[in-house]
Formats: sequence, C-alpha cells, structure tokens
Amino acid sequence: MPAEIGTKVVTTRFGNENAKTLAGYEATGGYGTLRKALAMRPEDITAEVKASNLRGRGGAGFATGVKWGFVPKDAKAVHLVCNADESEPGTCKDRELIYWDPHLLIEGMICSAHALRAVHNYIYIRGEMMREYAVLQRAVDEAYQRGYLGKNILGTGIECHLTVHRGAGAYICGEETALLNSLEGERGQPRLKPPFPAVKGAFGNPTIVNNVETLMNVPAILDKGGAWFNDLGMGRSGGTRMLCVSGHVKKPGVFELPMGITFTQIIHDVCGGVPDGRKVKAVIPGGVSMPPLDADELDVPCEFDALQTDERIKPVMVRPGQQFDLGGGRPLRTMAGSGGIVVLDDTTDIPRAVWRIMKFFAHESCGQCTPCREGTGWLEKVSRRVAEGRGKPDDVDLLASIAHGIAGNTICALGDAAAWPMLGFLTKYRADFEAKIAGAKRGAA
Ligand SMILES: Cc1cc2nc3c(=O)[nH]c(=O)nc-3n(C[C@H](O)[C@H](O)[C@H](O)COP(=O)(O)O)c2cc1C
Ligand code: SF4
Repeated sequence: MPAEIGTKVVTTRFGNENAKTLAGYEATGGYGTLRKALAMRPEDITAEVKASNLRGRGGAGFATGVKWGFVPKDAKAVHLVCNADESEPGTCKDRELIYWDPHLLIEGMICSAHALRAVHNYIYIRGEMMREYAVLQRAVDEAYQRGYLGKNILGTGIECHLTVHRGAGAYICGEETALLNSLEGERGQPRLKPPFPAVKGAFGNPTIVNNVETLMNVPAILDKGGAWFNDLGMGRSGGTRMLCVSGHVKKPGVFELPMGITFTQIIHDVCGGVPDGRKVKAVIPGGVSMPPLDADELDVPCEFDALQTDERIKPVMVRPGQQFDLGGGRPLRTMAGSGGIVVLDDTTDIPRAVWRIMKFFAHESCGQCTPCREGTGWLEKVSRRVAEGRGKPDDVDLLASIAHGIAGNTICALGDAAAWPMLGFLTKYRADFEAKIAGAKRGAA
C-alpha cells in the first residue's frame, strides 16, 4: 500500500532522546534485523534490495541494489562508504537522521556491508556537524563494545569495521570520488570516471558509496521485505522520502513523506502554506542544483522519474526555441536531487536569488576543469551585475551561453549543478531578468 502522510520508515525514533543509546535502540527493536541479515546469503540481501526499488537519496536516484551488483564478484577487498557530507544548500535531512537514530545507520551499514562482503567501512561526515559526529562516534563505540562491530560479529565469524571520518567543510567532498580522495588523505578533487568506485574506489578497491538515508532504509527492507518497501512508493521508486522544506512557508522543517506527494500538498498540507497570503513564485525541488518549478507546475509528484519526465514541467531552454538536450533529444525538466525544497514567494527578487546560488557554486568549484572553474566564476560575475542593477542588454543570453558551455563538459556534476538551475531560472523567469536589465538601462540614461 502506498505510504500516506505520517508513514514512517526512517523517522520512527525521531523525538526519542533515549533511542540514541544502544540500550534505547535495542529496546525499540534495534539490531533485531541485523541478526536476520547475518543469517542471509549476501546475494539474497542484494536481491531483496533490488526488489525494493530503493533508489539513492544522495542526489542521482540510482537504483541501490543495481549499484551493489556492479562490485566484481572476485574482489579481494570491498569497502562501503556512507556519504554523510550533506552540504547541498536546502538539504538538511541526513544530519537529523544521524542525530536521532545513529544506530539505525550503523545497523543499515552492517547489513549492507554483509551484502557486499565489505570488511573495512567508513562514514564520511561533514566537518561542521559536530553535534552529529559526537552522537555517531558514541554509537559506533557502543556497537563495538556490544560485538555488533569487530572481528567476529555476534559470533558469526563475519568481520565488519566502521570508521567515522570527518570532512573539512568542502561541498565538493560530497561528490563520491572527491570524497574517496579526501578519505585517502589526498586533495578532495573528483576523479575521472570510469573507473567507477564500484570497480575501483577507496584505496584502489571496489567501493560502494551510499547516502545516509539510503542505508538507513535497508533494515526495514530486510525486516519487512523488498515488496513491502516497493509498494510504499510510486512507480520505480520504493519507500518514502525525507524532504527538507525551507523558504517561504509557514512551517518549514524536515519531514518523512510519501514518494508520490505533490509540491502543492507539501506546501499547503504539510507546511501550512505561504505566509501572509502571498503566492508561490518558484520552488527549487531538490537542492539548489536543480532547475526550479514555477507556480503552474506544483501538482507534480516529488518522485524521481516524475520530476524528469512529467510533461506538465516545461523543458529547460538554452534560448527561446532551443531545448537543452540531456542526450539523444531528451529534454531536461528537473530532478528530485537530495530532497531540499526551497519555496520562493512572489516577493522574491529572482535575479538576486540566482546570483546567491551562483556565488555558492563559484566558491565551491574545485578548479580542476576549465569550463567549471572559469564558467562558474563568470556566472557569478554576470548574475551579480544583473542582480545589482548593472546588467547589460545581452546578459540573459550571455548567462545562458556560459551555462550551456559548462553543462556536460566537466569532470564531475558540480558543473551541471551550476548550469542547470541557471538555465532553468532563465527559461521560466526570463522576464524578471529582462526587467532588471531594462531598469538598469533606464537608471543609466
Ligand atoms: C558536487 C556534488 C556534491 C554531492 N554531495 C553529496 C552529499 O553531500 N551527500 C550525498 O549523499 N551525495 C552527494 N553527492 C552524490 C554522490 O556523488 C553520490 O552519487 C551519492 O553519495 C551516492 O549515494 P546514493 O546512491 O545512496 O544516492 C554529490 C554529488 C555532487 C556532484
Ligand atoms: S566540475 Fe568543477 S568541481 Fe567538478 S571537477 Fe571540474 S572543476 Fe572540480
């Protein structure tokens, strides 16, 4: 049965301070699934995860079980790395998940590590998350003491270790290959792919990188079955989703919600609507890397495939008459991303909001490839002059052309993450940019 508002898979212990301790976690059924998982064959766990249609919650929505299947069968050493770097503006779910239920993440990781036959495993946590790091490290220590982690876990002969590694505040270290470099003590810059981490990752070994929320769903899948999890969701996306709603809503927050919930429902039924009777102007659906939805596109479900293919969402354009091509004539509409929903009401100065987003990407570009290093800098400079009322008549086309030059031409997806929202905002709010530029011209006359 599809999830309803209030259905909980990963937030059952939210608000229960005691559940952070091992005793409190066990008292609420915690580590029960681990015993079951350790008795299963690794390939049966992967098969269950495949059947669940669990898709990665870190941004790309890739099928988790399928990704696990890419690890070569004859690999001598495999690693599982949990990506807890969470730095995408608008996204703040993983920190809440870790804070309220650290043992669920650990249990999910041990079950997943068993499926992958991974012995030495890591959680890469954003450096600024001091509170969550302390909670998590305490939980890992407790799990070692109780024998859930170690050389011979629960007397099964299975070895599983978990090291928590703190990042140092770089957004790019959330990109999985930059994360692996950083974990190895190298500069946190993305690697060229292929080889993908599942074939050659941490320390040269096959490595699966999964998001916090992704891994925290695994115990419920093994407990209640992949089919149950799949039924909770919508289409090819199983389960619920953690969504972080910020911006112009009366009740912002982090919520576990049904996969098929629409943006209209999120804004009005979950978050109490827009303050002071104002209207929605734009919604960023999945962290600031994603093209926005306009006020006519909010009845679309917040599900991975719907956001890419629902024809109610207008395609992103490079310029009037030229659709942005994702490859093979596929239009870019938007994507579910990392669940960070930012609501902008009709008082929002769109060019200024876009400049702020571009400033972030220009600052966070690792500088390794030219289109991103130079392009994000120019997107920031030109959008800034438009936002500040110093724009030139050709600036809208100039911004589009810079963004188009970045997209698809870089080592990692940070380039796309800057280019796509720029093109999306220019497509849907071109008039706002033109009005600012016309105002600038009048001011100059
Ligand atoms: C610039 C950039 C930043 C990213 N930051 C994160 C992050 O903070 N957390 C995360 O889980 N994934 C992040 N990702 C996605 C990861 O590269 C990777 O796809 C993800 O961790 C895989 O986990 P999943 O399959 O469970 O989604 C980022 C990607 C890019 C390009
Ligand atoms: S796209 Fe940007 S962040 Fe990614 S590798 Fe190139 S310069 Fe670095």
